[in-house]
Amino acid sequence: MGTFTRESLETLRTRIDLVEVLNSHLKLQRTGSAYKALCPFHDEKTPSFVIQKGDSHYHCFGCGAHGDAIAFLMGHLKMSFLEAVETLAQRFGVQLEETEKRSSEPKGPSKALLKEALEAAARFYHFCLLHTPDGHGALTYLYGRGIDLEFIRQFQVGFAPRTPRLFLDAMKEQKLLEPLLKEAGLMSANGREFFFDRIMIPILDPLGAVIGFTARAYKPDSFGPKYVNTPETPLFKKSRILFGLSYSRKRITKEKKALIVEGQIDALRLIHAGFDWTVAGQGTAFGEEHVRELVQLGVRQVILALDGDTAGREAAVKIGHLFQKDGIDVRVAALEEKCDPDLVLREKGPEAFAKMLERAVEYLPFLIAHLSKSINPESPAGKNELVQTIAGRIRQWDHPLMIHESLRKLARLTQTPESIVGAPEENAPQIYIKRESSVNSGIEIDPDRILEADLLRWLIVASAHSTRFAAIAQMNIKPEHFRLNAARTIYEKAVKAASEGRECDLLSLAIDLENPEQQLFLAEILQKRVNKERAAEGFVETVQRLLERHWMQEREAIKLKIYSGAGSEEEVLELAKRFDEIKRARPQVVYPEKEA
Ligand code: UTP
Ligand code: MN
Repeated sequence: MGTFTRESLETLRTRIDLVEVLNSHLKLQRTGSAYKALCPFHDEKTPSFVIQKGDSHYHCFGCGAHGDAIAFLMGHLKMSFLEAVETLAQRFGVQLEETEKRSSEPKGPSKALLKEALEAAARFYHFCLLHTPDGHGALTYLYGRGIDLEFIRQFQVGFAPRTPRLFLDAMKEQKLLEPLLKEAGLMSANGREFFFDRIMIPILDPLGAVIGFTARAYKPDSFGPKYVNTPETPLFKKSRILFGLSYSRKRITKEKKALIVEGQIDALRLIHAGFDWTVAGQGTAFGEEHVRELVQLGVRQVILALDGDTAGREAAVKIGHLFQKDGIDVRVAALEEKCDPDLVLREKGPEAFAKMLERAVEYLPFLIAHLSKSINPESPAGKNELVQTIAGRIRQWDHPLMIHESLRKLARLTQTPESIVGAPEENAPQIYIKRESSVNSGIEIDPDRILEADLLRWLIVASAHSTRFAAIAQMNIKPEHFRLNAARTIYEKAVKAASEGRECDLLSLAIDLENPEQQLFLAEILQKRVNKERAAEGFVETVQRLLERHWMQEREAIKLKIYSGAGSEEEVLELAKRFDEIKRARPQVVYPEKEA
């Protein structure tokens, strides 16, 4: 894998407890020597998702989903391979040692230690809000806003006390020392606590670990801005954090849509009210990295419910553009002037909010209406400017078909001839093919890659059940049959495991993969589901196809040589003979003797 040492990954492999990992995401029922649950990968009423006790793999008898802890985190929570490895290492207390390159960077406290400090801080703040006189004013403020105890408990809202050193002393008692607190963003360079006399809202990573705070002033005369956030730390990267994601991830990945708001309180209030597919950036600062994160979760549509003010509408224009650019459908909800989602929920209730979402408009009509406020389309010059401005923005999007369709729509909506808007009329649009699966978005379809992934999938999934697969593979397949280096590497390991009757786990497979591109390939192999009942046929079929591909390629290579005109007459004759031989010898899968 290139970034972590083999030894530390091996250690991790032995420590992972699959049942423990699944337990926090699924309702597991114990039945004899196995656990059962409703499968998270397909809809079902009776459980067919099974884990044998002590096994490192799960299997769904309904849809064929199969994998280990890493595959689960990748498939269910849409983590990248590396994220999954790091998450598991933290969870099971394994220190991953990094190989050369990364370890030359300056070393601070590990991420696990930072999280420990932040969790302790969150517990402390929460306690102070509920149980100290210092927190009383903040509590009163929250109640006044309609935020109740249940909400405060659900989101572990807290209070950073005014009394100097109270926080630092409490941390010290728990052996959380200054350098660690500084690195975690809880203590300033001057040795004082970073947060002071504010309401504390923990910011969580996608798995629910605290990585920072957003802190709100609650008194009109408070010092500093309304919100103060944790400064950038190794854990807290502002440009990437989607606030609320740990609560909303499940529905976002399942329904492939996300509701985007400006404020953290808006997000929590919506999640609390059942709109648990909401996330917020940091205010109106919502950038490409946020978009990428959501696209990776498989999101196909976003609804923007930003504040009903100029800043909110300007932000909708900008954020909407970023999603449209990436081929994601954008809807914009129209909040009344001076309203934000928090206020709408409080004053009108969740049903009214849901109605408002239903009425959200498509991005293009929204953009036209918004720009028409500053560019008057009544005059020819105004209309020209308006249409050209919007057409220019549409052309910045990434997908030819979306550009084409949107330009046509722009023409229709503004009643402008398509030829003027610049919709390409004669040239058929170049259709952009994008695969459903999110791990490989952006990678063009490559039949060689798909075939090699198919073959390896069967080999890996069925390996524990049949050493026969390994025998068949070894009799038929040679390393040169693979075009992808990653495929060859994985193949060798998988065959070895299969011939020993072992199930191949992802960590040992990944250890020899050098770069993220190769890891992506591994992820592709494991994302697709298989029907284990069909393993025998499926495997033999893909072996056959691999052999035939190689057979065709050999012939093509000879043909090219003949046509190149480089060889002597004799050589050409020899090549032609060889070509005929190969052509007649169509490959056929051979089987180990016993059962042929
Ligand atoms: P708003 O001023 O609209 O705040 O800023 P809000 O979300 O409605 O907050 P409440 O309801 O008054 O508590 C929107 C967002 O901009 C960021 C925050 O993320 C906030 O939620 N912001 C705002 C800051 O980061 N710092 C600030 O000083 C103000
Ligand atoms: Mn607000």
